Order: sequence, then C-alpha cells, then structure tokens
Amino acid sequence: MSRDELKRQAAEAAAAEVADGMVVGLGTGSTAAFLIEALIRRVGEGLRIQAIPTSERSAAQARAGGIPLTDFESHPAIDLTIDGADQVQVGRLDLIKGMGGALLREKIVAAASSRLLIVVDEGKLAARLALPIPVEVVAFGWQATARRIAALGGRPVRRDFVTDGGNLILDCDFGTLADAADLDRGLRAIVGVIETGLFIGRADAVLVGGAAGVRRLTP
Ligand code: A5P
Repeated sequence: MSRDELKRQAAEAAAAEVADGMVVGLGTGSTAAFLIEALIRRVGEGLRIQAIPTSERSAAQARAGGIPLTDFESHPAIDLTIDGADQVQVGRLDLIKGMGGALLREKIVAAASSRLLIVVDEGKLAARLALPIPVEVVAFGWQATARRIAALGGRPVRRDFVTDGGNLILDCDFGTLADAADLDRGLRAIVGVIETGLFIGRADAVLVGGAAGVRRLTP
C-alpha cells in the first residue's frame, strides 16, 4: 500500500466518527484533505455538520464540496477536530505539526475542541520526537527571534512561506527531543514567537493507517 493509501484509510476511519449535528474542526495537509473528501461524500449522503477549517486551503476544499462552514462567533466550542500530524510520539501522543504551515490555526482550533483526533500513516510514529519543529514568528525582527531560538540549542531555517496569518515559519532542528514540553515552554517565552508546532498533551486519540489496517492509539 502506498503512503497515500494508508493516509486515506486512516482519514476514512476518522470521517466515520463524525455524527449528525456536530461542529467539526477540519485540519490541514494531505491526510486532512482525504478526510475532507470523505466528509464531502457523507454530507452529500445527508450528514448534517458545520465545520471550522484550519486553513484557507481546507476552507476552499470544504466549501467547494458543499460542507457548511461556520466560525467562532457562532460556535466558540467545537465537538471534534480531525487533523494530521508530521510526527507522533508513541505512548504520550505528543505531536509535531506545521509542515503544512497551518500550525497556529490548527492549535487554536484544537484548543477549542472537546476532542482532537489525529490521522496519520504508520511511518509517522516515533519513540521520540525528532523532526525540525515549525515555529511561527512575527515577520518584524525575525532574525533576532531566530538568534534567540538558536541560543536554546536549535538550528532555525526560515521557510520561503507566509502563513494565512501573514507570519513567517522557522523550521528549528533541535535533534531528538529529551523534553518536548520544556522546549515548547522555552520557545513560547521568546519575544516574536507566536506559536510552535509542538502539540503537547492535546491529542485524545490517533488513528494510524498501516498495512494491517487502521489501529487506534490513546494516551
Ligand atoms: C499542517 O500545518 C500540518 O500540521 C499537517 O497536519 C501535517 O503537516 C501533516 O500533513 P500531511 O497529512 O500532508 O502529512
């Protein structure tokens, strides 16, 4: 099975957990795109939901497919958010997210959700988080912000990308993380840092697409 097939499998299983009347947070990325595709199909079959997307990209896909969109003005609380991740730490289910550049909206939506369900292929599972961490920073003075991140032990590289919020992303390599929660606190304390792609203790469950089918991990 290809990686996309595994992602699709996990996304389809997650879409089956969406029930009538829910307010649903829609993630961003290729796995989330499979999820939105599955929800478009279910809405076509009569499922009644309202959705809050985590990016303009996901909003456009959902809108084009006929999923009714809402916002925090009408619905400050979300029943279920389904999103992808770049790496999942087995056991704790801490995550690295943001390779798709939507980490800030993803974290805002996740924080407003009663449940966060993550969908990944099995290649994203790891014993320890070790990918470069996407960090969203204010454009003004980003070089000074990057220097302070480097002082924490990271190697920040500016991505050629502007987020939906008009900010920049620095991909910060810290090697294998000994204490992801502590690093997250340290990064967020730096002036100019808006948010990090470390999602600590936020996932309620992870659906993993693998060769033997979809399995569910809980913390
Ligand atoms: C978007 O900003 C990211 O957090 C994505 O959820 C993450 O990069 C997963 O993307 P894929 O599903 O494309 O692997």
